[in-house]
Amino acid sequence: MSTSARPPVSQDPADRRTFVRTTLDLGDVLLHPWGREAAESETMLDGLIAAAADPLIALWNPLATADRGDASAWLEARDGGWDRGAGASFAAVTATDGALLGSVTLRWVDRADGLAMIGYWTLPAARGRGVATRATKAVTSWGFRTADARRIEIAHAVGNEASCRVAERCGYLPEGTLRDSHRFGDGAYHDEHLHARLATDPEPDDPTEATGRVGVTSR
Ligand SMILES: CC(C)(COP(=O)(O)OP(=O)(O)OC[C@H]1O[C@@H](n2cnc3c(N)ncnc32)[C@H](O)[C@@H]1OP(=O)(O)O)[C@@H](O)C(=O)NCCC(=O)NCCS
Repeated sequence: MSTSARPPVSQDPADRRTFVRTTLDLGDVLLHPWGREAAESETMLDGLIAAAADPLIALWNPLATADRGDASAWLEARDGGWDRGAGASFAAVTATDGALLGSVTLRWVDRADGLAMIGYWTLPAARGRGVATRATKAVTSWGFRTADARRIEIAHAVGNEASCRVAERCGYLPEGTLRDSHRFGDGAYHDEHLHARLATDPEPDDPTEATGRVGVTSR
């Protein structure tokens, strides 16, 4: 990944641990910061509505984007996360025509301590092509490199095997099972697998990497 967007290193962890709006270029896929401007795109709003209606997303990662009004409010909240440097939420889109593929969000759990959490979803038509893996890997590296994250966690329901694979492929080591730890879209508490990556862990190899090139531009 290019280092051109690396911010100046401050001695104050609160300054360093700020997510700065950035577009990550994976070649055929772009990761754009979600924000208010997406609310002006009917395609994006409808993509968020479709995501909320997908049964797997509704079960494992429910989205409050059931209609265009809700989707606009969701985008406003993502923008606020970027404004505070506290949440880095990216839309994964095709480089050719900007079609929505999915989303990856990195957010601080304990900013002073460098502890963050990452989550992801992809639209049904985009699944099984490595989009979630590549996007999560890129956002993970970016979070360690530019925002001084120390540890990033992924927690997924034990029954969500696809998410488990994404975590493993992205180098998030399994650390155990959290019992009845989160209430999911079916209204029930499920056990979750906790995975984590440390800044000091090696970058995983991934055969799904299409170009080996990840460009970075701040906006
Ligand atoms: C989890 C999710 C993001 C994966 O997206 P994706 O773009 O298909 O992911 P990738 O193509 O990068 O990788 C999917 C991996 O899961 C595997 N997989 C897919 N469905 C699976 C299933 N039902 N059981 C086991 N593994 C499965 C694939 O084989 C692949 O692994 P591999 O690369 O070792 O073959 C997507 O299924 C989704 O949006 N699910 C609903 C929301 C969700 O669960 N979010 C995560 C919450 S923790």
